[in-house]
Amino acid sequence: MPLRLRLLVCLLWCSVWLSADPMHAVGNMFRPLGTPAELVSELSILTLIICAAVFLIVAALIAYAVIRFGYREGDSRSEPPQVYGSNQVEIAWTVVPILIVFVLSMSTARITSAIQDQKMPKDAVTITVVGHQWWWEFRYTDLKITTANEIHVPLSTDAQRKLTFLTLKSADVAHGFWVPQLAGKTDVIPNRTNTMWIDPKETGVYLGNCSEYCGTQHAKMELRVVVDTPEDFNKWVAAQQQPAGTPASPENQQAFLRSACIGCHTIRGTPAMGPLGPDLSHLMSRQTIAATEVPLTAASLRDWIKDPQRLKPGNKMPTIPLSDAQLDAMVAYLTTLH
Ligand code: CUA
Repeated sequence: MPLRLRLLVCLLWCSVWLSADPMHAVGNMFRPLGTPAELVSELSILTLIICAAVFLIVAALIAYAVIRFGYREGDSRSEPPQVYGSNQVEIAWTVVPILIVFVLSMSTARITSAIQDQKMPKDAVTITVVGHQWWWEFRYTDLKITTANEIHVPLSTDAQRKLTFLTLKSADVAHGFWVPQLAGKTDVIPNRTNTMWIDPKETGVYLGNCSEYCGTQHAKMELRVVVDTPEDFNKWVAAQQQPAGTPASPENQQAFLRSACIGCHTIRGTPAMGPLGPDLSHLMSRQTIAATEVPLTAASLRDWIKDPQRLKPGNKMPTIPLSDAQLDAMVAYLTTLH
């Protein structure tokens, strides 16, 4: 490879690694940061090595046969002598694949049960995940917190293991919960409850997505797992458990409470108790809106409320006719919900 090309490849790799931290990007499956993901990764590498060995042996034998026995100038054009049956060869290509399948299926069974047999410790954080078209609802039932699209979980270290157990349900169609660096995919299926667990080993933001086609905006059904130190996690929990703060301007709050928005959204401590859309009690503690599509700012929030169908056509949030003054008042109120 010419030097310049080698440098380019090196730069590309470096940028991939650098950009992966502290935002743990989707798809970086070669850098697992949780026990279930590590186990899955080990199994994938074992499978990859066996398959690569089979490929290399077969490819080498084909290349050898082509070169060694190919037609040469002066060879006779007649059919070569045909050989039928060889017990040794037949036994070899029956036994070897059986052994390979045995090794792979046993390793898969071992890793599947190692992940599934994990007992839930008493101090585990438990979250009920509900998949909706097209956003994620997260309920920390024990802690009495409800949030959307972004979960906070504590860091797990060797000295202080902290597990988070997820119970997965769907409100409508089949979805899939997948944060590649933390664990394998788990289906989220209507009328069925699935479970999984995670133990993130580095703080930071892990990106995840819906891994099961669930309608037009499936691709815009992403999620974030924010991994905090145990102290920061406790602070976050304490803040989330508070009811929404008293607004500086009651008029702005009224603009929201008089709108149709309260039919779907909840803001704890106010008459807004709609159960259908994301809980907005601590909206501004989240980094993004629209299932992580856009960073959450006053401007993006205003755009979103003005016409939710522009950014995410087909989503269940209707466009409500609002004057500019109403819109401004509503955004001014919502941006106080820390
Ligand atoms: Cu939800 Cu795809």
